[in-house]
Order: sequence, then C-alpha cells, then structure tokens
Amino acid sequence: MDNRPIGIFDSGVGGLTVAKEIMSRLKNEEVVYFGDTARLPYGSKSKETITKFSFQDVRFLLSKNVKAVIIACNTASANSFEAIKEKFDIPVFGVVSPGAAAAARATKNGRIGVIATTGTVKSGAYEKAIHNIDSGLNVISKACPLFVPLVEEGWADDEITYLTARKYISSLIDDGVDTIVMGCTHYPLLYKCLKKVAGDGVLLVNPAEETTKAVEEFLDGNDMFREGGGAPSHSFFVSDSTDMFEKICLDALGRKFLADKIDIEGY
Ligand code: DGL
Repeated sequence: MDNRPIGIFDSGVGGLTVAKEIMSRLKNEEVVYFGDTARLPYGSKSKETITKFSFQDVRFLLSKNVKAVIIACNTASANSFEAIKEKFDIPVFGVVSPGAAAAARATKNGRIGVIATTGTVKSGAYEKAIHNIDSGLNVISKACPLFVPLVEEGWADDEITYLTARKYISSLIDDGVDTIVMGCTHYPLLYKCLKKVAGDGVLLVNPAEETTKAVEEFLDGNDMFREGGGAPSHSFFVSDSTDMFEKICLDALGRKFLADKIDIEGY
C-alpha cells in the first residue's frame, strides 16, 4: 500500500484529459496535477528547453510527495522521457510508448497516422516506438499546430475546426491509414470533430487510456495502490492565470475543480 498521490504534469491544461483517464480508472488514487500554463506551448520549443521545463515540473511534483510521475504532455514525453527517467529516482510514465503500443495493436492494414505538435512530430518518437514493436508498420505523421489554440478558444465543435481538421487529416486518409494516434493532450477534446472528419473506418487512439493501464499494472505489481484513507482529494496547480484551467477542466473532467497558481521558475 502507498497512499501518496500520483503526480501528473503537462505543458498546460490539455493534460486534464490524461488526469480524467487516471481518475476514472483508478478511482481510489489521489492526483496532483501541474499545468505549466505560463510557458505553454512546449510543442514549438527546442528539446533542451522542453527538458529544462520538464525537470522543473517534476521537481514541483516531488515537492508534493508523489509516488510516481506521469508525463501527460506528448511533447515532453517524446523529447524528454529518457532524460527525466535518468535524472529522477521515481517511477516515470510517458504517453508515447503506451500510445504506440495501442496503435500497433489496433491497426489492421498496417498504416498508422500520428497527429501531434510540431515538437512531437520532429522528435520522431512515435515512429520509433511503433517501429520498435513492428518495423513493418507504416507511420505517417502530421503536425497540427492549430488544434491547441482552437481547443483553448472553446471552438472544439466549430465549423472552423472542422475545416482545419479536414485540411490536416485528408492527406492521412488519402494515404489509407486505418488508425490515428491523437498524439497531443488536447486532441481527445476534439474527438467528435476528428471522428467525423476521419470517418467510421478510422480508429482514433487516445494514448492516455493505455498509459493508465500501464500505471495500474505497475501499482498493482508493486503493491502501491492507495488503500482506505477516505475519498481521494485531488489537487491542481498551474503556473499562470487559472481562467483557462477552469474552462478546460469542465470540458475534460466534467466537473469543476479549482487550481492554485505557483511559481515554477523556483523549482
Ligand atoms: N500538451 C502538449 C502535448 O501534448 C500540447 C500543447 C503544447 O504545445 O504545449 O503535446
């Protein structure tokens, strides 16, 4: 038994889609969430900067006495997972390997699309992880930098987002993919739009689901589940204004939580 919370960090509020999976599958676990809203986006930054920011994010979570860290951010997972694992003496989970595994399992025709930030696409991390599983699979990646601001604007179901999705995804569809990895924390919030544009024949993979299963397996295997202690009390922190957090929190978690603002530069 280990009643310490699970730490989750993201470049911003999109990682709440990962927190949602954790909170709904591991109902007795407590979550400490940090969203680096002051320094978002990570998706357009260099590997060095993403790693530096990620180290600070992990140090903050460690100050909250977490028992494991989930890198919800695909961009940070893609660029900094190994460096984080090496630097900190704590179980660390990224979203890329689990997402790759789920996609490799799901595809029937061997053609997988990956949609993500520019930083994730540039890293080649999803291709690498998918080819480690099966080098015969075809991976076609597409950076979709406009999706994050569209979600944050509250336009997930707006005509302009459908047009943008068509523009980004049509080449993947033309290439015959039957599976698309939603390789960015914000994209599950666009599920309805992406599904409509991609069509019924294409399966959309949310890496957070597989990541949650990996965390569950780990906690189970190491006797680290939270036991007793009453209903879990989650805490949320951001590095800038809490407005966006509150907006996306309702969309992602379906309920209201309050976040505290912290100074991440101090970690
Ligand atoms: N959270 C980031 C990701 O999953 C998207 C937003 C950003 O660019 O920071 O890749």
